[in-house]
Amino acid sequence: MLEVRDLHVEFRTRDGVAKAVNGVSCSVDAGETLAVLGESGSGKSVTAQAVMGILDSPPGRVTGGQVLFRGQDLLTMGAEHRRRLRGDRLAMIFQDALSALNPVLTVGAQLAEMYEVHQGMTRRDARARAVALMDRVRIPAAKDRAGDYPHQFSGGMRQRIMIAMALALEPDLIIADEPTTALDVTVQAQVMDLLAELQREFTMGLILITHDLGVVADVADRIAVMYAGRVVENAPVRDLYAAPAHPYTQGLLESVPRLDRKGRELHAIKGLPPSLVDIPPGCPFHPRCPRARDVCRTDRPPLFPVAPGRSSACHFWQETLDAGRGGS
Ligand SMILES: Nc1ncnc2c1ncn2[C@@H]1O[C@H](COP(=O)(O)OP(=O)(O)OP(=O)(O)O)[C@@H](O)[C@H]1O
Ligand code: SF4
Ligand SMILES: [Mg+2]
Repeated sequence: MLEVRDLHVEFRTRDGVAKAVNGVSCSVDAGETLAVLGESGSGKSVTAQAVMGILDSPPGRVTGGQVLFRGQDLLTMGAEHRRRLRGDRLAMIFQDALSALNPVLTVGAQLAEMYEVHQGMTRRDARARAVALMDRVRIPAAKDRAGDYPHQFSGGMRQRIMIAMALALEPDLIIADEPTTALDVTVQAQVMDLLAELQREFTMGLILITHDLGVVADVADRIAVMYAGRVVENAPVRDLYAAPAHPYTQGLLESVPRLDRKGRELHAIKGLPPSLVDIPPGCPFHPRCPRARDVCRTDRPPLFPVAPGRSSACHFWQETLDAGRGGS
């Protein structure tokens, strides 16, 4: 349904050109959840913004690639056509609901407006739909609360309202950028469960951007791991957890506590992500990689096919995979 091909995005900064996205390719089908994982600054949000057409531009600029939605390239279609698709068929959920919602409009009115504008409903019908939707995302006493303003809701409830806004027009695809990171841990789980439930019910595609591996294991079908603006591993969740095919993924897995590997030590990945103005030659991960060899410093690894539906941008993916299977 959505296919991103070789996407490139640059930012002009005082220090030079920051290459934030360097040839990202990924895809998501109807009813599928793709998790996008990676450290801060790896280009997750910028990729999402370029796909949605909301990139801060300037300073940002898409310098190459295609974003195919049902076969049509969002990057080259007319602005009007794209705006319509974005309203009806593609929706986005942001981390910070408070800044994404209109502070001077009641939440009932904001939701109703979607139906009035996009579906030509009467105000009355639209209001009724809005309340039904608030009910659907489990806002207690939805009818009364429809008259409240965003700041009158708790963080978790506001995030539910964001989900309701995104779902209102029953889009084909939702991109959720760290939708729960601003919330308490228990509330995070509730909101994520709700999102996963609605995604199944509406058979939507979902791109879930997160740095929380725990969340990924529960809700995603596939994972794209990003490093320095590239996808370095792309795999079904179960396969990736069983044995990663990229040392960076291996490092991420080892840096979080896992229920299935109790008692093992946690290791943070050594070093820092590279400056995007000056990405290392060869494999961008080589300065931090425990498996790096000479070839890694000179030759950039392409995404090698590892198995059907699985790829890794590592010269030594086979060795990494074997080591993971052997439990080391
Ligand atoms: N408005 C901007 N101006 C200049 N550079 C930017 C801008 N937005 C993003 N960048 C650059 O793009 C890089 C990737 O940013 P992005 O927001 O995609 O990271 P991310 O993976 O979403 O990280 P996080 O987990 O912190 O949200 C940043 O490190 C920064 O160098
Ligand atoms: S290509 Fe080399 S440096 Fe890069 S991840 Fe693989 S082993 Fe490490
Ligand atoms: Mg981000």
